[in-house]
Amino acid sequence: MKFFIDTANVEAIRKAHERGMVDGVTTNPSLVAKEGKDFRKIVDEIASFVTGPISLEAVSEDAEGMMKEARELNSWIDNAAIKIPMTWEGLKVVKQCADEGIQTNVTLCFSANQALLAAKAGASFVSPFIGRLDDVGHTGMELIESIAQIYVNYGFETEIIVASIRHPIHVYEAALIGADIATIPPAVLDKMVNHPLTDIGIQKFLDDWKKVPKK
Ligand code: G3P
Repeated sequence: MKFFIDTANVEAIRKAHERGMVDGVTTNPSLVAKEGKDFRKIVDEIASFVTGPISLEAVSEDAEGMMKEARELNSWIDNAAIKIPMTWEGLKVVKQCADEGIQTNVTLCFSANQALLAAKAGASFVSPFIGRLDDVGHTGMELIESIAQIYVNYGFETEIIVASIRHPIHVYEAALIGADIATIPPAVLDKMVNHPLTDIGIQKFLDDWKKVPKK
C-alpha cells in the first residue's frame, strides 16, 4: 500500500519522509493557502526530496486554461501529477494530458461512474473523497470498493487514491480493501503511531530498568 501525504507543509512531509512513509504527496488549493507561502517555492522544496508523484492542482474552469496550467505545472518538476476536477472540461484535459504523457489525478470524485469516466479518459490517479461522503451520510469506503471492482473488471490501470481521510480507521479500512494508495494528513499519521499501551509499556520498562543492579 502506498502512502501519499495530504499536505503542502514541507516540514510535515519531511518528518514522514524520514520515517519511510512518503510514496508521494497530494496538495490542493486549500492546503497550499494554509501555508502562506509562494506555491512554486513550496513545490520546489517538496520536490527536492520527494521522488514519488506530487499532485498539483489546476484552478482554471475551462479546458484550455487547465491544459495551459497542466503544461506549466508539469514543467516545474519531473514528478508532477496534475490534479484536474471531475468535470466534462476536466476530462478533456485528462485525455490530452494522457496523450502528452503528463500524469493526472482526477479530484473531487464522489461516484463510481465518475471514476469510470476518469479511467476511460486515461487518468493516472483518481481521488474519491471518502471523508466528505461520510459527512453527508454516505459510506465513503463503499465507493472505494465499487471503483476497485470496476477497475478490476476492465483492467483499468488508473490507481485509486483514497482521499479526504479524516481518521486512522479510514486508513485501516482502505488497507483491508487493498486500496492502491491512501493520501493521509500528517495529523492522522501521528494518530496511527500512538497507542496508550505502548506508552504505558515504555514507562514500565524504563522504571524496571532502573531496578537492574549496575555493577
Ligand atoms: O487532497 C484532497 C482531500 O484529501 C481533501 O480532504 O479533509 O478537505 O475533505 P478534506
